[in-house]
Amino acid sequence: MNILVLGGPNLNLLGSREPEVYGKESLQDIENFVNDELKALKFTAVWKQSNSEADLINWIQEASRDGRDAIIINPAAFTHTSVAIYDALKAFNGKKIEVHLSNTNAREDFRKTKITTGASDGVIEGFGKYSYLLAFKQLFEKY
Ligand code: DQA
Repeated sequence: MNILVLGGPNLNLLGSREPEVYGKESLQDIENFVNDELKALKFTAVWKQSNSEADLINWIQEASRDGRDAIIINPAAFTHTSVAIYDALKAFNGKKIEVHLSNTNAREDFRKTKITTGASDGVIEGFGKYSYLLAFKQLFEKY
């Protein structure tokens, strides 16, 4: 399985950014944790992060051309604003899972508006780095 993992704005600051909300680990630490937990499984995962909405849209479009099977995306603040990322995700035919480190439903009211979320097959949020791990595990689940 070939998976693209996308991260939106300010996730490059994980580790130092509001650690009481997002934890003390960097995005690279989370990637290493997931790879370590899943080392028995055969898959390719490419992790990309950008503060730019355009980059995220271009990478989602490329995912189809590159034949990726699934996208795991944490759109970060773009979750609450971006119709363009929603549309790009809708155009991707593979599996899509949105993840969030924090439980956005338990935070400020503006985070309860979710635009991108409806474009994914499901959402996992509130479990820190385990949100990512659970998303990967779901992709490997057989029904
Ligand atoms: C976030 C939640 C968003 O509301 C916020 O803007 C982020 C991170 C999370 O992973 O908890 O940047 O997506």
